[in-house]
Amino acid sequence: MPGKKTHTWGYNFPVLGKTIVLKTGQHVHVTLKNSLPELTSFHWHGMEVPGPVVDGGCHAPIYPGTEKKIEFTVKQPAALTWLHAHPCPSTAMQVWLGLAMGVVVTDDNEAKLPIPKTYGVDEFPIVLQDRTFHKDNQLDYRADYDPMGVFGDTPVINAVVKPYVDVTTQKVRLLFLGGSNRREWRLHFSDDLVMTQIAGDDSFLEHPIKLTKVLIGPGERQQVVVDFGKYKDGDVVNLYTDDFKLVEFRIHSFKKDDSVIPDTLFTPKDPEVAPDAPVRKVTMDNHDMINGKRFSMQRIDMKQKLMSTEYWDVTNTNDKEHGMLHPFHIHGAHFLVISRNGHDPYPNEKNVYKDTVEIAPQETVRLKVYFQNAGVFMYHCHIIEHEDAGMMAQIQIVDPKEPDKKYKLMDMKTM
Ligand code: C2O
Ligand code: CU
Ligand code: CU
Repeated sequence: MPGKKTHTWGYNFPVLGKTIVLKTGQHVHVTLKNSLPELTSFHWHGMEVPGPVVDGGCHAPIYPGTEKKIEFTVKQPAALTWLHAHPCPSTAMQVWLGLAMGVVVTDDNEAKLPIPKTYGVDEFPIVLQDRTFHKDNQLDYRADYDPMGVFGDTPVINAVVKPYVDVTTQKVRLLFLGGSNRREWRLHFSDDLVMTQIAGDDSFLEHPIKLTKVLIGPGERQQVVVDFGKYKDGDVVNLYTDDFKLVEFRIHSFKKDDSVIPDTLFTPKDPEVAPDAPVRKVTMDNHDMINGKRFSMQRIDMKQKLMSTEYWDVTNTNDKEHGMLHPFHIHGAHFLVISRNGHDPYPNEKNVYKDTVEIAPQETVRLKVYFQNAGVFMYHCHIIEHEDAGMMAQIQIVDPKEPDKKYKLMDMKTM
């Protein structure tokens, strides 16, 4: 934008950060050095890592002027996950200022698939955010604050206002990340250009599906391949949310590409739920509670056994007329979406690993939830203002070999 530079926060970068690329099986060491004037934490959204410290939620504060080292092994399939600040209760403000970035996991299965995968050439992350710019182009989170969730009036994609992509190959793969605090994205292209969805939050889809519209809530990720074969050098194709233009795709000349996306991309595991396992009932209430309670850092709301799979029935109790969608997210886990109010889920959420799911007012979504690491993990609404206001709870994943393991849980006073 013309005029003054916007004051922002970022990871090794003035705003957001350069995508980290990891490989399944890799052992990773990361150090976060906090040069900000306040405490922060770094949460690996979508990474199945132990909680609560490596996971990086509220129990892992990093104070100003200090640093923290973590390490973990990547034990999950190829996906776009992400990293964002998660100090309670100022996650929303820190993300608004820029503390979020992509973390791509690659694996051998992806390497074999005939899909675009040259990062920055035919594969692009699209981080979807919106911001409002005040006097001198500055952000003012307090001025924009709304307990129902903060909207911006300007789309800011990969931290760019009015972004464009130079298309130099017939097929382009887009890794969409819902990085907004509140806004959900109803993406579609000009000419209703078809998108072939190939992946969701935490894995490829079992079978690709063709769509002209994709819904992405805060926290969610969806990957699509777009075929620009019917366009020619000089054409422009736009990506919209509703009727708002987000990204311009500027077509250049490209080689013909006849590759076919295979019918099967990935085989998700679908473990049995133990017959004696309870069905978890989780309700998302008003804009600030889970199961009728606000979040407390010292309270464990549920326990589940390590490496067991359980059904969670998650309900948005808002009324139909005035309620909003709540994107429900679980740390450190992946789930399969089984049903919506007893009916089939949407085609692009079947047979794919997810960690965030949009839930409409008066809707109950049944999930099959699996944890492969022990620890304490948060689950919450990913409208970040709802999370900060208390629409968050925590689960302890218990390793039967160490049933009495205690975790150090912070509280607001000791932070
Ligand atoms: Cu994006 Cu608590 O997470
Ligand atoms: Cu998370
Ligand atoms: Cu919510």
